[in-house]
Amino acid sequence: MAKFEAPRGAPDILPPRAKVHRRVVRTAEDLFARYGYRPIEPPIFEVTEVFERGLEAGSDIVTKEMYTFTDKGGRSLTLRPEATASVVRAVLEHGLDRGALPVKLSYSGPMFRHERPQAGRQRQFTQVGVEALGSPGPDIDAEVVELASAVLRDAGLDTTLQLNSIGHPACRAAYLPRLVAYLEANRERLCADCRRKIETNPLRTFDCRVPGDREVLRGAPLISDHLCDECREHFDAVQGLLKDGGVDFRLEPRLVRGLDYYTRTTFAYLAEGLGAQNEVGGGGRYDGLSEQLGGGPLPGIGFALGIDRIALALEAEGEETATGLDVYVASVGEEARRRAFVIATDLRRRGLACDLDLDGRGLRTQLKAADRAGARHAVVVGERDLAEGGVTVRDMASGREERVPVDALAAHLEAHWTRAR
Ligand code: HAM
Repeated sequence: MAKFEAPRGAPDILPPRAKVHRRVVRTAEDLFARYGYRPIEPPIFEVTEVFERGLEAGSDIVTKEMYTFTDKGGRSLTLRPEATASVVRAVLEHGLDRGALPVKLSYSGPMFRHERPQAGRQRQFTQVGVEALGSPGPDIDAEVVELASAVLRDAGLDTTLQLNSIGHPACRAAYLPRLVAYLEANRERLCADCRRKIETNPLRTFDCRVPGDREVLRGAPLISDHLCDECREHFDAVQGLLKDGGVDFRLEPRLVRGLDYYTRTTFAYLAEGLGAQNEVGGGGRYDGLSEQLGGGPLPGIGFALGIDRIALALEAEGEETATGLDVYVASVGEEARRRAFVIATDLRRRGLACDLDLDGRGLRTQLKAADRAGARHAVVVGERDLAEGGVTVRDMASGREERVPVDALAAHLEAHWTRAR
């Protein structure tokens, strides 16, 4: 029989990394709730047109990266490459924007893009994110950016926040001919991909990583120098609020993000130690997306953080990977093993993270398992001790042992506890 492997670009997230994933998602979800964002669970696939219209038919994601299939009813469906278009579709479909504004929503889950896999770039990956709909002013921009920064900080990751404004379509309409003229004048020095982008999507040339192209783009006119008065005021106000809120950022006038729905504020977070795929999150305003999806005017802003990249970056920073077990219950002999199950069950019901030997292995092997699991204490249940109504509690770090009556075990552990979780 041939052995099976996970599909390319869709790696199994194994322990201990999966635990880091969960912890970061929990950190994000706690903060989202604290800032008044309510969870929403859109489906993992949508009618293809949602993404074609939302992310624009000519964009890289839509033309090259979507997992699109025809279902048994002959409909074209697509595994979501991101969640913003889905959330806006859901808000419009269910009229969530008819109540108090802004509508503040959060989500987490898998996204799918048919990209060339490499370290930090997968075909299935997990995002957490928020979307705030219905507020046009700069205050919500500042809230959303500050929230993303708080999640990364509480997750324990050092990042650099890049901030830019790419104006609204009218600013871009005035600016793009200048950019195109500059790119045309330097066409010979650009890579084939960028030459194509001059016609299809000139702003995206700023994303190019080819050193020669980057050199050319250093001299290109910048959208930030061509904002209309309103967009300029909006951006100044966002910066002022972030400064007041103590959020560090760096203006990055060449930051154009990979999605075409953005207007005005855009931002991205970069982390050390990840190589080329060093963007752990990003977002921005998308004031025209609702109309693209057939709704009325409904300004919006949000972000998504890439959990896989955050976990990688935390590992690069040396994140603790122990399992965080409070106690391991070891036993010697058949009778003691049955008793160990009762003791472990009692400790678990009291909220302690507890594991035990299930296979009657030797005591040394069990203590090794306790050590490997990072347990703070091992409880050793022996037949003779049991007859006397006691167990031995071993401090795994110091090796010190104490005899404790079974009845007093939970209280004894709790009293000694500085919880590992
Ligand atoms: P995005 O920049 O495409 O934005 O993705 C956000 C984050 O998801 C990236 O910064 C990265 O950390 C992670 N990510 C993206 N693609 C991959 C991949 N192939 N492998 C691993 N991680 C990946 C969005 O998706 C927007 N929906 C964000 C947003 C929300 N804008 C407004 N609201």
